[in-house]
Amino acid sequence: MNAEKMLPIDLLRKRRSLVAAKIGDPGPTEHELGLIIEAGLRVPDHGRCGPWRVQVISKNGQLALGKLYGELYRRENSDASGEQIEYWLNRPSSAPCLLVITCHINQAKIEKIPASEQHLSVGALCQNILNASHALGYVAQWLTEWPSYHDEVKKILGHSAETEISGFIFIGTATEEPSERKRVSADEVVSFWDG
Ligand SMILES: Cc1cc2nc3c(=O)[nH]c(=O)nc-3n(C[C@H](O)[C@H](O)[C@H](O)COP(=O)(O)O)c2cc1C
Repeated sequence: MNAEKMLPIDLLRKRRSLVAAKIGDPGPTEHELGLIIEAGLRVPDHGRCGPWRVQVISKNGQLALGKLYGELYRRENSDASGEQIEYWLNRPSSAPCLLVITCHINQAKIEKIPASEQHLSVGALCQNILNASHALGYVAQWLTEWPSYHDEVKKILGHSAETEISGFIFIGTATEEPSERKRVSADEVVSFWDG
């Protein structure tokens, strides 16, 4: 069913990721991306720490990032095939829209709001972005992969080596229907406690 016609509860129940390689054009318009980010920021944030940052990577940015990925992959994998290098070269431009979410722990508030809570807020922001994308009829995937942990990737994006990249979120239009994956059922994880 058209996502925009679904009840909010069904949108949340039915959201699925689609692998980035299968996310095609068009991506969200500038206005829609604004809505997606606004929904992302509507996130529980204990003590107003604001530990999240969102970077929108333009097409040029995606190409520059891919060039770096390709170089790093070649340099750090002596047995890398041409095909693998090509894969990483193209990775950031897999989908029309790429966001980088970073976590910036608010150190001034850390005594009251532990880093673990601030990390949870960043994760919640990422999930809101996935749900908002889905609500507008797009598909998305939240990936970390090795680039999230690579200092040179952080550097080219303007971050310190200490900055945590919480994820790369790819957003666009499904080129094929996402297949359903086996989910953990409520029976496996929900218990009831009655005192
Ligand atoms: C923090 C985080 C990092 C992830 N990184 C990767 C990754 O590097 N590679 C990957 O295949 N899936 C990764 N995933 C999983 C996908 O985002 C996604 O959950 C998976 O494709 C199944 O999609 P769905 O359960 O949303 O339908 C990550 C998920 C999270 C929460």
